[in-house]
Amino acid sequence: MTPRGKFITVEGLDGAGKSSHLQFIAESARSAGYRVLVTREPGGTPVAEALRNLVLSEDLDPIAETLIMFAARSDHLRRVIRPALEQGVTVVCDRFSDATLAYQGGGKGVPERVLQHLIDAVHPGLAPDRTFIFDCSPEVARARLEKSGRALDRFEVEGIEFFQRVRSAYLAMGQADPQRMLVIDASLAFDEVRRRLAEVLLPMFSDR
Ligand code: TMP
Repeated sequence: MTPRGKFITVEGLDGAGKSSHLQFIAESARSAGYRVLVTREPGGTPVAEALRNLVLSEDLDPIAETLIMFAARSDHLRRVIRPALEQGVTVVCDRFSDATLAYQGGGKGVPERVLQHLIDAVHPGLAPDRTFIFDCSPEVARARLEKSGRALDRFEVEGIEFFQRVRSAYLAMGQADPQRMLVIDASLAFDEVRRRLAEVLLPMFSDR
């Protein structure tokens, strides 16, 4: 039987720089001989990408937003994530349920028990094996977003206080589950973040 693939997720504030580090994680796994699938949330399937467009642009209350995130996730899990893991493929996913706990829970006050029920309903028995949280202050993240010059979505235009709550939620998760979650200081220079990341990736992908 093919052993299940590794499920790796990447989290952090908008502007923390996680997407470029995510590509590096995928390349490190590939060059160590792993088959790798890179995907993202919300998104990753046609239905989930349509839901992404909705949730990033429409004015929705926090619970509607939460339900859409989980609807997208359910489709993504069924069509992409679970089949890949079952075939032994390493899945590197840009955000997952920890983003809902941080943004809709920490940021917007959706009760954690509601989110835990949805997690239990949508992916019972499945959690990421490793989660990288790229951490920086909301001010650093905001400055990077502004520097990028691109149009900001509905979440990215939230105020600094919102992102402070999201950050605190991520840091609390990192502290509560250090076996799975690794907080990386993303306020450091890009090359230094990459160097630290390379150090932790080496033992993760050394069994081939
Ligand atoms: P991205 O820009 O990292 O692709 O994420 C899109 C936005 O969606 C980002 O601002 C975070 C937000 N988001 C949530 O609020 N809850 C979630 O569960 C997920 C996956 C993303």
